[in-house]
Amino acid sequence: MQHTINSSIRPLYLIAFFILIFGNGNLLAQISNNSNPSLGLVVEHAMVVSARVEASQIGIEILKKGGNAFDAMIATDLALAVAYPFAGNIGGGGFMVYRKADGTTGALDYREKAPQLAERNMYLDANGTVIPDLSILGAKAVGVPGTIAGLFEVHQKLGSLPFNELIQPAIDLAKKGVIVTESDVKSFENQRKKFKKANGTIIPLDRNWKIGDTVKYAELAQTLERIRDFGRSEFYEGETGQKMLAYLQKKGGILTLEDLKNYKAVWRQPIQFNYKDYTITSMTLPSSGGICMAQILKSIEPFDIGQYSHNSKEYIQLLTEAERRAYADRAYYLGDIDFVKVPISQLIHPEYLAKRMQDFNWNQATTSSAVSHGSVDWSESDETTHYSIVDAYGNAVSVTTTLNGAFGSKVYVPEGGFFLNNEMDDFSVKPGTPNMFGLIGAEANAIQPGKRMLSSMSPTLVTYQGKLKMVLGSPGGSTIITSVLQNILNVIEFNMSMQESVNQPRFHHQWLPDVLKMEPNGFDLKTISKLKTMGYQIDESKSIIIGKVDAILILPNGHLEGGADPRGDDSAVGY
Ligand code: DON
Repeated sequence: MQHTINSSIRPLYLIAFFILIFGNGNLLAQISNNSNPSLGLVVEHAMVVSARVEASQIGIEILKKGGNAFDAMIATDLALAVAYPFAGNIGGGGFMVYRKADGTTGALDYREKAPQLAERNMYLDANGTVIPDLSILGAKAVGVPGTIAGLFEVHQKLGSLPFNELIQPAIDLAKKGVIVTESDVKSFENQRKKFKKANGTIIPLDRNWKIGDTVKYAELAQTLERIRDFGRSEFYEGETGQKMLAYLQKKGGILTLEDLKNYKAVWRQPIQFNYKDYTITSMTLPSSGGICMAQILKSIEPFDIGQYSHNSKEYIQLLTEAERRAYADRAYYLGDIDFVKVPISQLIHPEYLAKRMQDFNWNQATTSSAVSHGSVDWSESDETTHYSIVDAYGNAVSVTTTLNGAFGSKVYVPEGGFFLNNEMDDFSVKPGTPNMFGLIGAEANAIQPGKRMLSSMSPTLVTYQGKLKMVLGSPGGSTIITSVLQNILNVIEFNMSMQESVNQPRFHHQWLPDVLKMEPNGFDLKTISKLKTMGYQIDESKSIIIGKVDAILILPNGHLEGGADPRGDDSAVGY
């Protein structure tokens, strides 16, 4: 997955196109031009911020016709499956964290699952060595997709408009086509060899695209029409499911009809904790996001990080040391809560975290080899996309959804017109062996049939004095958690606007490898040199991904400010 730090001022013709298509005389939606200002788009009523203007606009149209944030979530998600096949999907999964206007919160887990035929050592050869790429590229990497189940679940419990009205804009967009941007050209180009390898044939996206071309998705449009007409079961047992299985099985995959039929999205209690006067609500297991974020923020809370200047040596050091310790716990303790016991409340307890920070030293980096998981007293029985929505009624939705890597496993169901995930790589395929994000895991995240692989996705909401303050999240694998929490701190400790916050350079540490990743050219050279002197190994290489945050800030007068990440084509639309 590629992010270009200084990328993409959206071409004006694209904006003009949307005003023509959607500007129908009533309240005209406003679109951020993503040109890196320090104040983002500000609107009065409702907003959608997502990876693509087409998807944000479709979400807003649903809100303008009276739909709620959950209706807009369904429409935006499906639009991303068309406009942003890099990560938007019907062949992947995700998480939603929400807060209704009455203050009630909840979370939906539509994460992929391991197929019933999955085995603990399925990615190892006879010598116990990991077979390169098997969990990443091709049919064996695919987990049972959850997106369609998730969207129908949201609709049934929280939606207000008929499903066919929510899916129709994505169908129309797939037929009309999507204009290729500069980042699309790069991401399509980067994957052409892998598309060929995973499918054995040339798939329609495997072309020499130019900026301004139009990509049409005829097969995907037909699949979405069948889902519109026959509902959830079309994907899990109907023609679409059958075609997907036949193709996967031909390519050596292990998914069965039973896997599809048995898939269920699950409502979960989100992780909720206080940081100073703020309440943070984020995703619980099988995402590590909420727990890790709570560990990191509660670890730094006693140090009052706001006293240091933003991205100063002290700020970076303190956050890095808290991150190092939290990711060490992640690797050992965290896994699918339906399969393993996880001592969540102990792990986020202030006393435990204070103990974890005891050996932190202002003069010297702790080495990761000196840090293991902490010991808690409990008995043991044994490339992504984020969007944020606020509607005019006061409901808020925070969703992160993924195929895992860019275009997932690269397996493209030809008759269905969509890609399938490579989420199996998020399991710990062998204890101690890093996955594609360099994360290692242990028993808690070992492969088991029907189990969900551990995630870092962190759709998050922040409230202050009982009122909604922020809605945010990010892609970026292991860097999601640290990207999200740096944006929370930017706003609440350093008083930044939402867009200013999203624009800031970010850093990341995840225990192992023992490297402090920093976005290139974003940090003061003296700060970097001081950190190096204290023993921090710094990686400023160009290709690193440290999130792509799409967020909404509720201003004191109730207006909404969008933060659309300039690292991509991301766009805030509102009215
Ligand atoms: O669930 C996870 O943590 C990963 N599968 C997310 C992948 C991701 O963010 C890719 N984007 N950079």
